[in-house]
Amino acid sequence: MIQDLRTLQASAAEVVGAAETLEALHEVEQSMLGQGSPIQRARSAMRDLPNEEKPSAGRQLKETTAHIQELLGSRRSALSLESENENLKSDRVDVTLPGAGRSVGVPHLLTSTMAEVSDIFTGLGYRVAEGPEVETGWYNFDALNTGADHPARAESDTLYVDYGDPKDEMLLRTQTSPMQARYMQDHEPPVYVVVPGRVFRTDTLDPTHSPVFHQIEGLAVDTDITFGDLKGTLAHFAREYFGKGTKTQFLPHFFPFTEPSAEMHVSCFNCEGTGARCRVCGGVGWIEILGCGMVDPNVFEAVGYDPDRVTGFAFGMGVERLAMIRHGLTHIKHLYENDLRVVRQYR
Ligand code: DAH
Repeated sequence: MIQDLRTLQASAAEVVGAAETLEALHEVEQSMLGQGSPIQRARSAMRDLPNEEKPSAGRQLKETTAHIQELLGSRRSALSLESENENLKSDRVDVTLPGAGRSVGVPHLLTSTMAEVSDIFTGLGYRVAEGPEVETGWYNFDALNTGADHPARAESDTLYVDYGDPKDEMLLRTQTSPMQARYMQDHEPPVYVVVPGRVFRTDTLDPTHSPVFHQIEGLAVDTDITFGDLKGTLAHFAREYFGKGTKTQFLPHFFPFTEPSAEMHVSCFNCEGTGARCRVCGGVGWIEILGCGMVDPNVFEAVGYDPDRVTGFAFGMGVERLAMIRHGLTHIKHLYENDLRVVRQYR
């Protein structure tokens, strides 16, 4: 028996070394130390040995078992290290690979329209300003020559935040015009400014109206501004925005804060005035684009300017309307739903 154990001990290193994986090593362990292995058999056979042989056989059994366990232990450490290295290698991140691209968004059509219109005016020396969306009744109406009994003040087309004593009333601004007053209070003339922004009215949503929409206001105040300056400036804007051949006409209108006041119409870029069932102008040949006029002296007085020393003109236009006309949109809701199929068309 002692001889058998020595033979087993001598060959153990080779058998253990041949195991290439942790699973294979487990099997080798079972076959060398587990049920039915030569070690187990030798252990059972101890009982039947003559007493005088037992101590030396016992020592040999212990030595062989310990040797095999040691071999198994060091082989296990070696294989674990190897598999760990394998894992590290396969999990390695190549930081030089190109990244997973993130698509870049596009400005919304309303944003780019406001930017484009503002750009046209900054090209003429205008500044761009923004004002509060929640306004006092004074700035939204009184300062703009719109008295307490003016129909525009009615609760029916204005969204009040605080409706009560007229001098304290707060509302969502119905127009960007209150910035005329704010800007003049904060700046000495000359003033050349455009004001893009959001405005609010209790309009019901239909293809061309929304209770929330956008306007761009314009104001020019200097010592000798005439209606000719107004026409020249706005005709230039129309040609820049709608195309070089665009013609303009000014029709009398009424706004409380300008006198005289007008609506500007531009020649239809779609049918070029030939009329006949045009989808843009409906066959009229002209499209109404904005309201404008010479600043009423009462407005200058309200903000502390001397109406005898300055003159000026103002204008206001709807951003949705500009964008819809130019891009042929048939419903204003397409500008608010943020459907990417619509948004992405206007890069
Ligand atoms: N605020 C007017 C509106 O909402 C538009 C407008 C008309 C503005 C004439 C002006 C102007 O500055 O001069 O209907």
